[in-house]
Amino acid sequence: MKERTLSIVKPEAVRKGLTEPIGERLKAAGLEIVARKKMTLTEAQARRFYDIHREQPFFESLVLYMASGEIVAQILEGENAVKRNREAMGATDPAKASAGTIRADYGESVEANAVHGSDSAETARQEIAFFFGADKP
Ligand code: CDP
Ligand code: MG
Repeated sequence: MKERTLSIVKPEAVRKGLTEPIGERLKAAGLEIVARKKMTLTEAQARRFYDIHREQPFFESLVLYMASGEIVAQILEGENAVKRNREAMGATDPAKASAGTIRADYGESVEANAVHGSDSAETARQEIAFFFGADKP
């Protein structure tokens, strides 16, 4: 079944010019990029986006990092898009991510791990609405 998911190229990856190489990886995984938006999150927006993690020890640092520069939010579409994107991304910690995954190749640390991807179809709907609202194609 065709579905959609939200992907984010995180600040350090945008800074390093990795938006297109990451896009190519996603396309190679069978995902089409149907919308893209470059923006800088405010700390308040980053806090809201990652609200589920507010009790985690890494939360404040994560918020500052996500607001530290431009990000590229993108809607991916394809068969089992949520799962495919997560597989293409690899594990949260780049040091533990499988060889050939985006995080293994482009991530710097567990925090600056190059990309975000929705973790379920329901989260994907909420996260796409967060970034694209009524604008989405
Ligand atoms: O992004 P993913 O779904 O793989 O991981 P998460 O557990 O939902 O965590 C969200 C984000 O928080 C990660 O992608 C990292 O950027 C950051 N994080 C961190 O800085 N330190 C950790 N120990 C775990 C996550
Ligand atoms: Mg997550």
